[in-house]
Amino acid sequence: MAESVTITDNRTGNTIEIPIQNGGVSAAEWAKLLPDIWFYDPGFMQTAACSSAISYLDGDAGILRYRGYPIEELAERSTYLEVAYLLLHGELPDAEQYERWRHDITYHTFIHENMRKRFMDGFHYDAHPMGMLVSSVAALSTFYDEAKNIFDKDIRYWSTVRLIAKMPTIAACTYRFSVGMPFVYTDNNLGFTANFLRMMFEPREEVAWDNPVLARALDILFILHADHEQNCSTTTMRVVGSSHTDPYTACAAASAGLYGPRHGGANEQVIRMLMEIGSIDQVDDFVKAVKSGKGRLQGFGHRVYKNYDPRAKIIKQTADDVFAVTGRNPLLDIALKLEEVALNDEYFTSRRLYPNVDFYSGLIYQAMGFPLNVFTVLFAIPRTSGWLAHWTEMLDQDSKIARPRQLYIGEPERKYVPMDQRD
Ligand code: CMC
Repeated sequence: MAESVTITDNRTGNTIEIPIQNGGVSAAEWAKLLPDIWFYDPGFMQTAACSSAISYLDGDAGILRYRGYPIEELAERSTYLEVAYLLLHGELPDAEQYERWRHDITYHTFIHENMRKRFMDGFHYDAHPMGMLVSSVAALSTFYDEAKNIFDKDIRYWSTVRLIAKMPTIAACTYRFSVGMPFVYTDNNLGFTANFLRMMFEPREEVAWDNPVLARALDILFILHADHEQNCSTTTMRVVGSSHTDPYTACAAASAGLYGPRHGGANEQVIRMLMEIGSIDQVDDFVKAVKSGKGRLQGFGHRVYKNYDPRAKIIKQTADDVFAVTGRNPLLDIALKLEEVALNDEYFTSRRLYPNVDFYSGLIYQAMGFPLNVFTVLFAIPRTSGWLAHWTEMLDQDSKIARPRQLYIGEPERKYVPMDQRD
């Protein structure tokens, strides 16, 4: 075998040759020789937990494709709803398929009145929108008990439609609740992002929520955020889904994974960082502080990308269109300077740290009128289609329940000591 590795157990001298397939080796093959030796791999740095045909990512070359289509082409020519269909079904829809998909999503955007009035109105007045979203998505499962039948393809389809459709409605609800504004019902005559912008902002005059340029820019951002192979939240979706829980509960768990500042929460942290820096002449000092171990450059670095994140490039271009409508975000100059300084600094170049998707997205969101605490919610809306595509793929693969091994490093067996005899 040319494409293979050979492993020898030095305790016994036994040896085995394992084929390299799709860039990896099978743990099942490894176990034929070494059933008692686990891989110790915290953070899954070197472990593929599944096979997937959804996203292709080459971190060294800065390439991202959905189902084989380059992200650049999809961002330029497609719509978020079409991309969601592609992720879930594996192919771009024809006109008839697209029309049915668009119709089904559009007509499932409403949420049950009890969901809003009894459940969401119960949050504390200053609840973080992302915390509200995580809980609300979990609560949806109580409205659709039949969703537990995850192997019924028809029920699975409607769960998928409902989750994609209701995410923007819940997101808008969380924001309006947090600022004490009355809820705006969904409008079936509008497109996915135009409807969302209206639910969020109507009737705020200072926000250009009905401007089609902003709706298109948001649609592009949604395309870019729709999937990204085995990131923390998607892996959570697959892990939780592997227990065969319903998709609403699994999506709530995935949203919780997204909330953290190392993942989707980074877009909010980028703006806080830029505001803290305050002006261009403070950039050098800030970078020095980061290099000395005081925090991280938010929106920089990626587990897989060791080159410019292709999504960050597209976002930078989209920013120009948005700023032409909203006016330039004053924090942009600080961001550009920060990027320039970091990309010319040995600390960042030697570690191959480049701007990621979150570095510029927050600047656009802020210019559009979204408050900082809604940014991660904006990430969760499109990522829902990616989560569901992976969940569906996982169920169709008949995968095992996720149950990793551990290396036990605790105490050996010891005797229970009654409390009055403890030192
Ligand atoms: N600023 C400064 N140093 C950094 C940064 C950063 N943003 N990211 C990584 N490093 C350094 C880190 O200190 C380490 O240095 P050393 O080798 O001297 O200890 C080295 O680079 C490798 O870092 P790591 O933490 O081992 O890398 P990782 O692959 O485990 O982490 C990451 C990836 C995204 C969590 C990390 O780069 C980070 O915390 N970035 C800032 C947060 C961020 O922007 N997150 C969004 C990620 S993209 C969108 C998404 O997934 O939601």
